[in-house]
Parts: sequence; C-alpha cells; structure tokens
Amino acid sequence: MTTMFALLVLMTFTVANSQVNDCMSMYLEPTGATCVGTPTACVNSKCTFSAVRWTYLCCRNSTTVTIPVCPATMTPLLGSVKTCRLSNPNTGCPARYSCVQSSVAGTYMCCGGATTGVTTVPPTTTSAWLTAGISPAFVPTPPSTNLVVSFMSTSLIFGQTTTSIDVVDTTPKPPTSVTGFTTNASFRYSLFVVDIDATSNRLRYMMLNVPGSGTNVQSFSGVPVAPSIAINPATFTGNHRFVVLLFQHAAIASPMIPDITSFTIAGFMNTNSASFGNPVAGSYFRVTGTAGR
Ligand SMILES: *[C@@H]1O[C@H](CO)[C@@H](O)[C@H](O)[C@H]1NC(C)=O
Ligand SMILES: *[C@@H]1O[C@H](CO)[C@@H](O)[C@H](O)[C@H]1NC(C)=O
Repeated sequence: MTTMFALLVLMTFTVANSQVNDCMSMYLEPTGATCVGTPTACVNSKCTFSAVRWTYLCCRNSTTVTIPVCPATMTPLLGSVKTCRLSNPNTGCPARYSCVQSSVAGTYMCCGGATTGVTTVPPTTTSAWLTAGISPAFVPTPPSTNLVVSFMSTSLIFGQTTTSIDVVDTTPKPPTSVTGFTTNASFRYSLFVVDIDATSNRLRYMMLNVPGSGTNVQSFSGVPVAPSIAINPATFTGNHRFVVLLFQHAAIASPMIPDITSFTIAGFMNTNSASFGNPVAGSYFRVTGTAGR
C-alpha cells in the first residue's frame, strides 16, 4: 500500500513536471498536424503556438491526463486550462478571472464568471507588478489591469514562464491580441513589448493607434509601425522578462521612433507622456532558454 502510494506520488510529480511539451501544456498533446497561417486547419483540436517548436501546431486534449474543468457556470480562461497557484501571486489570473479549485483535487485554474459557491483568489493587479520586481524598476507606474497576451491561440498570463523560445528565428511573431481590458471604440490603443533583460534590441514590438474594439479582446493583427523584431534572435540567451504595455489615447499618437537598443519604459514615458499617459493595462512573461539550439 505504501509502495503504491509512493509510486502514485512519483507519477504525479513526474506528470506535474512534464508541463512543457510541444503543445506547452501537460493537458494538451500534438495531433501531428501543423496550422501555420491556417488556424482552422485543426480537426477536433486547436491551433496552438508552440514556443518549443517555434511554430503553430494542432493540439488536442491529452489522452493520458485528466483535464481539469472550471466549476459549473464558470468558463476557463480563453477556453483552455491555465493553472494557477494559491500560494504564488505571480501566477495569478488576469482581471475578471479567479484562481479556483478545478474538478481535479488540488489543481487550481483560472476561471471567469460566477463568484458564488467557489473558492476564489482575487485577480492580482498592481501589487503583483511590485512583487515581481517589474515595478517600479522597469515600469514606474504599474497598470491596474493585467492582460492575457495571445500569440494566435496560445496565451500567456501574467508572470507565466515559457521555456525554450531559443530557436534562432528571424521572423517576427508579434502578439495577435490581448484580453482582459475592455477597450473603448472612442479611443485608440498602442501596444508595446519590451525585453527588459536585453542588453540590445530591448523594444521588441510597437503597434500604434489601433481603434478600440469595445470588448475585452483587443486584436493587434496588422503591420506594426516600428519596429517588429523576433522574440528570439541569435543574441537571445538566458532568462528574459518581456513586459507588455497597453496605452489608451484619444488622439493619434506619433511618438519619436525610439532607439530600440537603449529603450527604457521610463525614458519613453517621460518623453511621450503627453500623448500616451500611463499604461492602462499590461502583463509580463518570462522566457527561459539559450540561443543556438
Ligand atoms: C477538451 O476538454 C475540455 C474539458 O473537458 C472540453 O471542454 C473541450 O471541449 C475538449 N476539447 C476538445 C477539442 O475535445
Ligand atoms: C467611451 O469613451 C467615451 C468618451 O470618453 C465615453 O463617453 C463612453 O461612455 C465610453 N464608453 C464606454 C462603453 O465606456
């Protein structure tokens, strides 16, 4: 009996540590099909950006791991399993989602909707930026809403670690949308992605003046104004934090195109505060790995 229990614990531990597969989740497995440029190509599966393979793969529910589901009347974050830890505010869920007990004992996930009858942890907002050490050092005034940042149908929540974005790649793969902040069609929105741990090429992406969608999903498809740099150039090594900031402004903003190498958020905001103000929402994610694989 004790041996069986120990084996069970060991197996559970092994599964919990095999989170990074090609589909970037222990709850998903690749079907073998790819879906680059054709997200609808996946049958009974979902087109998912794989940071491990640096391409888009069709991923289906795992056939070996029990898929946790949200409590009845609640919906999973972007339709998939995003686990969270009650003990770690840096893996908190974005605005309007809570970290709740899923159908699997001991597994918590981000669910939205109902607020009664479930064990919830409030979404982490401003304080999470301070706890994570992003503010005030890199983002002087943290936004009060945390975003989910999506690369096609793969999404990263605040503080999420993603591994092995280490394949040398010269093709920019900018975020396709952000979720969690309700934009207003009367305003325009600008999105920045900044690698705060880079010694060069700090500003990775800058998209300006996109009209608000009026919903809590804001698309950023299209050609960024400048610049647009792949997240994993040959120079990428180690453990980098990527900060994503969403700015809201009424007028068309035309900032001076900043020097991408020495770019700092504080410097940019000082120079351009009149047109951008403070970020209204944002997120950060962490990429581990080494270049040149
Ligand atoms: C995956 O599992 C979840 C939870 O059981 C279910 O809601 C979803 O429809 C499944 N997706 C597919 C593609 O089977
Ligand atoms: C959008 O912004 C306009 C201008 O400030 C405001 O009048 C309107 O109420 C806002 N709409 C929503 C849905 O908040």
